[in-house]
Order: sequence, then C-alpha cells, then structure tokens
Amino acid sequence: MTDTYLHLVNSGFTKKLAKQLGLPRPAPLRRHRAGDPLVDGPVLVIGLGGQDGASTPQPDADALAQLLAGTGDTPGWDLDIHRHVATTETVKAVVLVLSDVEHPDGLAAPVAALAAVLRRLAPGGRVVTISRTSTADDAPAVAAARQGVDGFLRSLAKELRGGATANGVVLAEGVDVLAPSALGALRFFLSTRSAFVDGQLLEIGSDAGTFPADWEVPLSGRVAVVTGAARGIGAAIARTLARDGATVVVVDVPAAGEALARIANEVRGTALQLDITAEDAGQRMLEHALGRHGHLDIVVHNAGITRDKLLANMSRDRWEAVLAVNIAAQLRINEALLTSGDFTDQPRIVSLASTSGIAGNRGQTNYAASKGGVIGMARATAPLLAAFGGTANAVAPGFIETEMTARIPAVTRQIARRLNSLQQGGLPEDVAEAVAFLASPAAGGVVGRVLRVCGQNLVGA
Ligand code: NAI
Repeated sequence: MTDTYLHLVNSGFTKKLAKQLGLPRPAPLRRHRAGDPLVDGPVLVIGLGGQDGASTPQPDADALAQLLAGTGDTPGWDLDIHRHVATTETVKAVVLVLSDVEHPDGLAAPVAALAAVLRRLAPGGRVVTISRTSTADDAPAVAAARQGVDGFLRSLAKELRGGATANGVVLAEGVDVLAPSALGALRFFLSTRSAFVDGQLLEIGSDAGTFPADWEVPLSGRVAVVTGAARGIGAAIARTLARDGATVVVVDVPAAGEALARIANEVRGTALQLDITAEDAGQRMLEHALGRHGHLDIVVHNAGITRDKLLANMSRDRWEAVLAVNIAAQLRINEALLTSGDFTDQPRIVSLASTSGIAGNRGQTNYAASKGGVIGMARATAPLLAAFGGTANAVAPGFIETEMTARIPAVTRQIARRLNSLQQGGLPEDVAEAVAFLASPAAGGVVGRVLRVCGQNLVGA
C-alpha cells in the first residue's frame, strides 16, 4: 500500500502548495540498507555539565563517548563523536547522558546544550537519552529528576521534524551504561533500523546479554521460527532475521502454502504449514526446527487476525476466534517450548501486540483483549526463561501499511496515518527491525517489555 499523500507533499508544485496551505508534510523516512554506516554524520554526546561542563564529573557520558568514538582500550564504534560543537555545525545525532542526575535542577544544563543544536539536527536525525528508572526507593528528588526525563523525551519527540526521532534508553538500578542491552538499544535507536520508533523509552532490566561478534549479522548461527510469515509483517520479519544471519522457519496456514514456499525460498529457510491453534503446534515447530536445523533459539509469534465489531454486536464466535489465534495459541506454544528442555540457549520469544491493546480501539474489544493479553504474557513469561539467559518481549505496532490496514475505508486510513509524530504509516520492515533487535544476543537485558513501533501514536501511552 503506498501513501500517495506523502509523495505529493514531497514533490514539486504540490510540495509548495501543501506548505502554503499549512498541511501536514511528513518527511520520507530513511530505512536501513546493507552497508549503511551506523550514523552518517557527527554525533554529539552531552553529559550533565552540558557543552561546557568539562569540570562536572560525568563518568557515564565520558565512558560512552570513549566507546562510541573508539578511543578507549576496547574496540569501539568509530563514530564521529563530539563533546562540543561550534554554532554552525550540523549534527546527525545527540546522545544525552542523564543517568547521573540527582535533582530536576540538574537537567537544565544538558537540556540547554541540546536545545542549542536542535535547529542544526540533520534530516532523519536522532536524539537518544540515557537515564535511569525511577522507583519508590529513590530519594524524592532523584525520582523526580529521573521521571522528568520521561516526560521531557516524549514531548521533545513531538517537536522534532524532518523524520528525526527521540527515544530513550532507561537503565534499571545498577545496570552499567556499557551493558550489552544498553549499547544494543542505543545502536538501534541511533540507526535507520528504528525509523518508525519515536517517543519510546526502553527499560534495560539487567546487564545480561552478549555482544555479537559482528553487529551486522547478530543472529548468525541462530534458528528462528516466525508464524504468519506468508505475507505482511511476518514476511518482513522472516527477511530481516535472515538478513541478520538467522536460519528461518516460516509458518503459516496450509491455505497460504504457495506464498509461504516463496518466502521460504527467498530467505533460504524452510516452510512449515501449520495452523498455530492446533493442540500440538508447539511440538511440531520444535520437531521441524530440530529435525531440519538442529536447534531452535528464537520464536516470533506474529500470526494474528481481526474480527472487528462493536461489543453489542459481537458474536461469541468472533470473540473466541480472535482470542484463540492471537493469545491462546501463543500460551500453548510457549508452554510446549518451556517444558521441552530444547529451548535453553539464550532463547528469545518476541510476540506481536498492538497499540490497540494499550490504548484501546472502538470495534476491537476482542482484538485489544488478545493484544493486551500478549503484553501480560510477555511480562510473565520472561522470568521463566531467565535461567537460560532467555527473554520474552512484545512489539506493539501502530498503523502499518499492510493488507490488513489496506481494508480500512480510505478516509479513515488517511486520518489514521497522520495521527502520529511522524505523520505517516510505518512499513512492515519497521516492525521487523524492532523484532530483530529484541531477538538479538545483545538484547538479553530487555525482559518482559513492550517496544512500540508506532511513530509515537497520538493515542495511548
Ligand atoms: P496479515 O493479515 O497481513 O498476516 C497475518 C498472517 O498470519 C497471514 O499470512 C495469515 O495467514 C497468518 N495466520 C492467521 N491465522 C493463522 C493461524 N491460525 N495459524 C498460522 N498462521 C495464521 O497481518 P499483518 O498486518 O502482517 O499483521 C501481523 C501481526 O501484526 C498480527 O499479529 C497483527 O495483529 C499485528 N499488528 C498489525 C498491525 C498493522 O497495522 N498491520 C498493527 C498492530 C499489530
């Protein structure tokens, strides 16, 4: 599905007209292509002292800047890192390190330094905050400062233009700023892989996780199952996991067998025709993966259906069909995986939720119950995998251009696309990139969380 409006407001005469009329002008987003640099321009790292705070102790900002620049003892990322930029220089990304903040007053200097460069943030620029979780055990001033970052980041994301995004890495107490998941999340947010992720704060719960030998193929040697992979978001997930080095088993219903075989060929994986609501679906996935590929490490629960109706008109069948595919099947498959003894090498479960499951949506009580269920399931499944270095997480897409959303009436679809900070729908690959990050070895410290891929939808949390 193409967004004709997005093309019109970015070309020739219609671009000028849209500007004169004050219409929303979404910027085309740049997506990751093989061989792209992580960040193609200067990156400013700001610590608590702001741009002129050399005398303020800021150990986290110093350690991070050193690693990003590759100037420390350990191999770094070789980014073009600056702690200070002249008033004429353009910057591609700003990393605001606020993890040491102890009072809301401490936010003024770093935020002023960021404000001074915002007008020179390049198109598709990135702002990433690094902060700490605020808990009831914190001193009130510390908690206030930490929680303040949350509100600040979400508001800033709504102010950025030109396809720029703002996201936050939130470290739980005691988690090192250089922990695998902290760096993995920072990399994801800085890169074009997170093009449609905006206004999100991702909590890093622990130092768990491992650094990949090669950040370009972090899933090398891993075997993944993706359900509902014959088309749409599932097909994009299969392609992205394969690009990142995984061997992929694609699963879909027998009726989608032909399309499924095409995707399996494309990603050089194998196809398994299977209705995920079958009692033995989990066992059959395991048997296929073990038999054909020797092990199973990643399961992506993507298959999902909608049967929309207002609750007053909802038949029991519609309710049950949606709950059966979108949540009951996942619970049963996870149970089979967990009791098999064959899903124990840093396993990863990533489930597709939806912003409907967070904010609710008229006509979708069944769907939202199932997707809210996915979020609860991920939270409660994560601890069961912890002993194996495993994780369970959810990705909640907003409006994504697929066959599912193509069925929405034209006017409603146009409006739905604009109702986020990036003023456009996302693409299936945007969701796939988030899934691939959560499936990666570096994301071992992200446990039981929900990552929204919604361009910062104006509804919901
Ligand atoms: P889609 O309808 O294009 O594809 C879903 C795939 O799942 C189809 O190939 C279908 O055959 C398969 N499937 C359905 N029931 C199955 C079963 N019982 N067993 C095996 N396979 C089955 O959907 P789309 O848009 O690609 O969505 C993928 C996931 O993302 C779903 O879970 C959906 O709820 C979620 N999502 C999608 C959003 C969007 O904007 N497209 C927004 C939020 C969430």
